[in-house]
Amino acid sequence: MKDIYSAFTGSIPQNYDRYLGPMFFHLCAEDLAGRMVDSSAKQVLEIAAGTGIASRYIRNQLHENAHMTVSDLNADMLAHAEQKFSADENVVFSVADAMLLPFENNQFDVIACQFGIMFCPDKVQVFREARRVLAEKGRLLFSVWDSLQYNPLPHTVNKILADIFEDNVPAFLHAPFSYYDQSQIRNDMQQAGFTDIEFITLNGECVYADPHHAAMGMVTGSPLMLEIEQRADTSIDDVVENISSGLQAAFGASDCRVPIRWTVISATS
Ligand SMILES: C[S@@+](CC[C@H](N)C(=O)[O-])C[C@H]1O[C@@H](n2cnc3c(N)ncnc32)[C@H](O)[C@@H]1O
Repeated sequence: MKDIYSAFTGSIPQNYDRYLGPMFFHLCAEDLAGRMVDSSAKQVLEIAAGTGIASRYIRNQLHENAHMTVSDLNADMLAHAEQKFSADENVVFSVADAMLLPFENNQFDVIACQFGIMFCPDKVQVFREARRVLAEKGRLLFSVWDSLQYNPLPHTVNKILADIFEDNVPAFLHAPFSYYDQSQIRNDMQQAGFTDIEFITLNGECVYADPHHAAMGMVTGSPLMLEIEQRADTSIDDVVENISSGLQAAFGASDCRVPIRWTVISATS
């Protein structure tokens, strides 16, 4: 995987939070946090937390005395997350690579991660690190997208990109949908020592009012923007326009609803 695919930096966090958040991430975050409802967790870690969309839902589920550490590789993403919390909420923010966590052993009761692990080149190492910092019988709860076959909006965007760029197609949008094989995930987790691994596949809808906003999110809310900028012959605005027209043709001009499918994985250490 290219290094650039982890670079959620600069203007990307703002566009991610504004456009992609309501389209994809709030719905899944609410579900993920709901799975912690009975949690008596006192110490919670979130990895690859991004702009804090899931962090906000998760914190709302925890006891007020619980302590939450919100971490991400990119300080620019975390800066947005920080704005979602007040000082008295027992939340700290930490720039951290999920493959090399800067935390002591056996510290956390629960680790959560929404749609982050697919960006880490060494998944087994992420699971090893998660297990190292989890307390005995601690729980790892994370989500991954299902394949592009079941996520037609990004699949359509990839087809439009292939038409625009022909010989030099930006491939970022394959990365988030590349880690869905449940036997591979189970195997990677078992290598790191996890047991009691459960998979729950969920279906929902990506909802947006305006295809132009959806196109803005898809192009400028992720490192896809950086990949397009590397191709000097096509402007971001032109790509947004093309994708907006393509989305309109595929899913309608307003109040659009497109199926999404993802999997939540829960395991104990
Ligand atoms: C699609 S976003 C998900 C953000 C957030 N969890 C959410 O649901 O909105 C992926 C996140 O993974 C982060 N990321 C990428 N590589 C990482 C790594 N090696 N360690 C930690 N975070 C990483 C990115 O900075 C980005 O914030």
